[in-house]
Amino acid sequence: MSLPHIRHDSSSTIPRSGRRTAWLWSSLIAIGGFLFGYETGVIAGALLFITPEFDLSAFAQGSVVSALLLGAMLGALVAGRVADRLGRRMTFGIEGGVFIVGALTTVCANAYIPLLAGRFTLGIAIGALSATVPVYLSEVSPAQIRGRTMTLNQLLMTIGILSAYTVNFAFSGMENWRIMLAIGIAPAVVMIVAACMLLPESPEWLWSRGKTEDAHRVLRSILGGAGATAHLQGRDRDGLSTRDGFGWRSLLMPRVRPALVVGATLAAVQQLSGINTIIYFAPSIIADTGLDVSQSIFYSIAIGTINLIMTIVSIRLVDRVGRRWLLLSSLGAMTATLTFLGLSFVLEAHPTVSLALMVAYIAAFAVGMGPVFWVLVGEIFPNSARAHGSSASTAINWGTNFAVSLMFLSVVRAIGLGETFWVFALVCAGSFVFVTKYVPETKGRDFEAVDTELQRRFARSGPARALAGAGAGSASADAPEMPRIHAPSDSGPR
Ligand code: BGC
Repeated sequence: MSLPHIRHDSSSTIPRSGRRTAWLWSSLIAIGGFLFGYETGVIAGALLFITPEFDLSAFAQGSVVSALLLGAMLGALVAGRVADRLGRRMTFGIEGGVFIVGALTTVCANAYIPLLAGRFTLGIAIGALSATVPVYLSEVSPAQIRGRTMTLNQLLMTIGILSAYTVNFAFSGMENWRIMLAIGIAPAVVMIVAACMLLPESPEWLWSRGKTEDAHRVLRSILGGAGATAHLQGRDRDGLSTRDGFGWRSLLMPRVRPALVVGATLAAVQQLSGINTIIYFAPSIIADTGLDVSQSIFYSIAIGTINLIMTIVSIRLVDRVGRRWLLLSSLGAMTATLTFLGLSFVLEAHPTVSLALMVAYIAAFAVGMGPVFWVLVGEIFPNSARAHGSSASTAINWGTNFAVSLMFLSVVRAIGLGETFWVFALVCAGSFVFVTKYVPETKGRDFEAVDTELQRRFARSGPARALAGAGAGSASADAPEMPRIHAPSDSGPR
């Protein structure tokens, strides 16, 4: 099944009110991204006070941090199925509910085990949200503004991280870790109310369930009456009659595999580039460079601010210069800054040099690799496989995040801090080559156009073709299970 997004037709314009509506819906659901960022950032500050109170060993501290990552992997895995079965809105409601249960469990925890259980539960909610928010965003956004609305997810994530750092800073004097953890509940309530009372169901999901009238009503709010009718007639013309999702099986079909290879690789690479070693361990790395601890908390706020500012820059660029250009420039700059960062540690350069390079690295990540991965996750899969494709890619992202966070300090001990950053630099250089060869441009395009480029890129390369099972002959291989993806109508740029 194709036509996953609200179509871009260069001859049609979206009414101004429609754009505003799409922005409003997108902003409300991107609160899910805020929760993701807040919970990732808040624990470092809270742990400073939880550790003495519960007498936590180093292992126990690490497990409190990583329980969330493991839970998130699980949450991401189940989210696609739930979102396809129950609809996107109800899934958001459930995710918000699970988040509140997890948050209350951590806030009220009086020992290590309840704390761990609460963090795991929070992880399930956050992982599930991180897999479903991009899906919804891509399904309610017209192609002309889709890059920007989808980048909102990352923007809110960076605001969440920065808010957590600021809350840590503000409440560290009172040593009140329970308030730090409780603050995350308020945005979760807003998200639940929005999902249950303000947001419409995704028109794509409604259409896939045969609720064409309802889909038309939602589309009308964005495209206007004539636009909505043309959109739905376009589908009928294309003969897209199979409306049921295909579940996990859909991901293994030859036609979908190239998208899965791209989603899974970018998911892993985003974490293997070492971003969260800086986000999670910034204060200790900075303290290691010789600056004192209070300075290091201040500098971690600086890192959070740069992360936020560069994400705003990315929002401005993503629908103009395209995803590929942003990704490639970001990866090039990440490779360079990581190489020099490693060198600064190996040569024991002045701490401010390392700090400046860390900030430059975060800026390079935030302008491309950070947001663009989450944009592509919602854009590269066909309608029938989107929720599951997003689930799989997101679960890999969380799983790799877990592995890197777990192993970082041991690797540093084994080969040295500078050398570890060189490994991250190598990953970024390899990813540059991968993106050059395999990642399609999705800016302003319908799925057919994205798919055509994906198939072309994978068909050209021997090993990747074998891995992805892509190529000219593959369409017939999936024909019994999946409607043929129709002839390309490339409406986007090359
Ligand atoms: C990544 C997160 C990371 C965040 C930092 C996101 O794109 O997926 O793991 O913590 O960026 O801003």
